[in-house]
Amino acid sequence: MRDHFEIRDADAAGRIGRLDVPRADRTVETPALMPVINPNRLTIEPARLEAEFGVEMLITNSYIIRETDALREQALESGLHEMLGFDGAIMTDSGSFQLSEYSDVDVTTEEIIEFQHAVGSDIGTPVDIPTPPDVPREQAERELETTQQAIADAEAIDVGEMLLNAPVQGSTYPDLRQHAATHAAGTDLDVFPVGAVVPLMNGYRYDEMVTAVAAAKRGLGADCPVHLFGAGHPMMLALAVALGCDLFDSAAYALYARAGRYLTVSGTQQLEDLDYFPCSCPICSEQTPADLRSEDDDTRTRLLAEHNLHVTFEEIRRIKQAIRGGDLLELVDRRARGHPAMYDGYRALLDHADQLEREDPVSKGTFFHTSAESARRPEVLRHHERLDRLAVPETVLLTEGGAPDGDTYDAAWRVVPPFGPFPRELSDSYPFTAAVPDRSDRAGQLAAADGVRALVDANPETAFTLAVDDWHQDAIDRVPEPVTVESLQEINE
Ligand code: GUN
Ligand code: ZN
Repeated sequence: MRDHFEIRDADAAGRIGRLDVPRADRTVETPALMPVINPNRLTIEPARLEAEFGVEMLITNSYIIRETDALREQALESGLHEMLGFDGAIMTDSGSFQLSEYSDVDVTTEEIIEFQHAVGSDIGTPVDIPTPPDVPREQAERELETTQQAIADAEAIDVGEMLLNAPVQGSTYPDLRQHAATHAAGTDLDVFPVGAVVPLMNGYRYDEMVTAVAAAKRGLGADCPVHLFGAGHPMMLALAVALGCDLFDSAAYALYARAGRYLTVSGTQQLEDLDYFPCSCPICSEQTPADLRSEDDDTRTRLLAEHNLHVTFEEIRRIKQAIRGGDLLELVDRRARGHPAMYDGYRALLDHADQLEREDPVSKGTFFHTSAESARRPEVLRHHERLDRLAVPETVLLTEGGAPDGDTYDAAWRVVPPFGPFPRELSDSYPFTAAVPDRSDRAGQLAAADGVRALVDANPETAFTLAVDDWHQDAIDRVPEPVTVESLQEINE
């Protein structure tokens, strides 16, 4: 157990948690999105973020504040909370990101953390090295050592009640990410941001983002609160939460607004291209795209930024409700249909179904089979892995239909794509309460055939008969040799 984080509810590897932020005297519910505040340019006043958007925590850049004379003096004199006019929790970044963008940051971890502490930050950050994707392995290893030294330097400072971030780097090398994460989780630091994923997201490389985060999660384990640094686009939040990320930060809401970009849960639109708003937030319900276009630059930017934040927080609430309702993966599946890069991300997520399975609750609301990808969900994997726990008699009919009359078979089990075979008595247990389509798809049938194989492997002495209609030939071909395959009609005659 980590001291400052408690998990209340879970679905897939996603969770609703409570992050205790003692210096702010606050408990922040996660998943949480922290708007990024540029202290030089308040697109939306922080007080309004709290009052109108329900923002519990925001993030700002201590390096920019320290480098700007007026801000530095004001922050040291009255503290960040008063300077920004915000009562909630404040996380501060260290300037590392500036390091990756402009490479002229000359501040040590000790200096910046002492500054963060002095201005009243609630969660501070050391000077990590955000190693970009695709660099030579030697560079990733060398920079990771620097990041680990920064974490050690931070750990040695007495910061009182302030929490500290332990960033996880490692570029696009999953083993380095996992190793970095194991190291970070072994320190006394409190929050674990996965870093340098912004270039992957900007390049729409969401499958690789998933691979990097999944590796970090293997090293961190389930207890650590995880921040996905630089992630705040509403289209990817469900995916990232399903992987086990708890905190997000959005600069996109303001940066995109400045460029006339309108965020949606299935991608980004240009205000220029819109005739109608697909949204009912206070901005979009009161004006048309043409109205917004006719505003002056500052007003248009502010209103677009407000819409961008509304749609982002709406998605966070939808995700939390999905975790409560046990249909987070259905939500991820829907988001995967909105954008091909999210489809890549979802499929990469399902490559780690075994990892998700370890956190995924054994029982939930209900399983909706809504796509070919549903066949790869952790529930299907879990059923196949546990088939060897079931007692099986000498002759068993596995059928998509009802149980036949008479005593030709010792037992008649059901077969339902994508799960495959299960005893009738389990029909009322999750996930066999699933809503599945009348027209089962090839992927579901193939998964069901894998279930038959797992059952046969566990029971080599049993004579199995499989009675199905209209299965794809590849699914029939995948049913192992000793099983007699019949058509449902024949069995019922
Ligand atoms: N903001 C976005 N990515 C990063 C990162 O890797 N490290 C830090 N400190 N801030 C970030
Ligand atoms: Zn809107």
